Amino acid sequence: EHEFHLEPRPAGFSFEGVFGRWDRAQLQRGFQVYKEVCAGCHSMRLVSFRHLEQLGYNEAEVKAIATQWQVEQPSVNAETGEPATRKNIPSDRIPSPYPNEVAARAANNNAVPPDLSLMVKARDDGADYVYSLLTGYRPQPAELLKKFPDLKTPQGLHYNPYFPNLNIAMPPPITSNGQVTYSDGTPATVDQMSKDVSAFLTWAAEPNLERRHAAGLASVLFILIFCFLAYGAYKNVWAGVK
Ligand code: HEM
Repeated sequence: EHEFHLEPRPAGFSFEGVFGRWDRAQLQRGFQVYKEVCAGCHSMRLVSFRHLEQLGYNEAEVKAIATQWQVEQPSVNAETGEPATRKNIPSDRIPSPYPNEVAARAANNNAVPPDLSLMVKARDDGADYVYSLLTGYRPQPAELLKKFPDLKTPQGLHYNPYFPNLNIAMPPPITSNGQVTYSDGTPATVDQMSKDVSAFLTWAAEPNLERRHAAGLASVLFILIFCFLAYGAYKNVWAGVK
């Protein structure tokens, strides 16, 4: 730990807090960013295409998303037994763009892009972290180089103060406004796209968040009612005693 590593900045998401709920339009935008930007390197092996119905897509839309997905599903040739690929179907998980780890490393300066299904849970303040990481690329501060010359960003890595060791193998993925075109008319600023994809990754890691919040609220309400009942019973039981 040192002063150059930064804690995540709060992005202010709709799903935070005990009353927090998804912003489904945001989840769809975030999925679009994942699809058009992140999926080029990152799989989501715990999310199947049909899960996307929870974001508000209908069956036909999910089917179209699966069939048109850039990366095909690993398969085998039925006749020769050779590895092959086939088009995705709704029950398939979101595949990795790389056939194996060696290929992933070869394409990424010897680093492996991690699966993003549970990334938001795997990091502290995961949603804010992903948002901060995506918007956190910058030139290396001169004081840092003066104080810790060893931390100079090596060739092929990228300085990012939100990444614990400060130099990350992922090149800045979201770099310019309008990098994706949102169909709901939301201006696709770098900040907006980063926030949206972080919200989408939060949904992926905890699709039952709204049910968890509802259950928590119901429990608290039940306990409150029970408190009043218990108090009434206490008053009643001791009513005749001086
Ligand atoms: C790592 C998110 C696009 C390559 C990561 C990490 C996250 C992430 C959260 C993990 C950081 C950590 O370990 O704490 C995203 C998102 C993207 C995106 C949300 C789209 C907006 C890309 C693209 C590439 C890429 C397009 C390839 C060109 C990598 C690599 C790592 C990584 C190689 C490993 C970095 C390291 O361990 O040094 N990404 N990524 N990512 N990503 Fe991405």
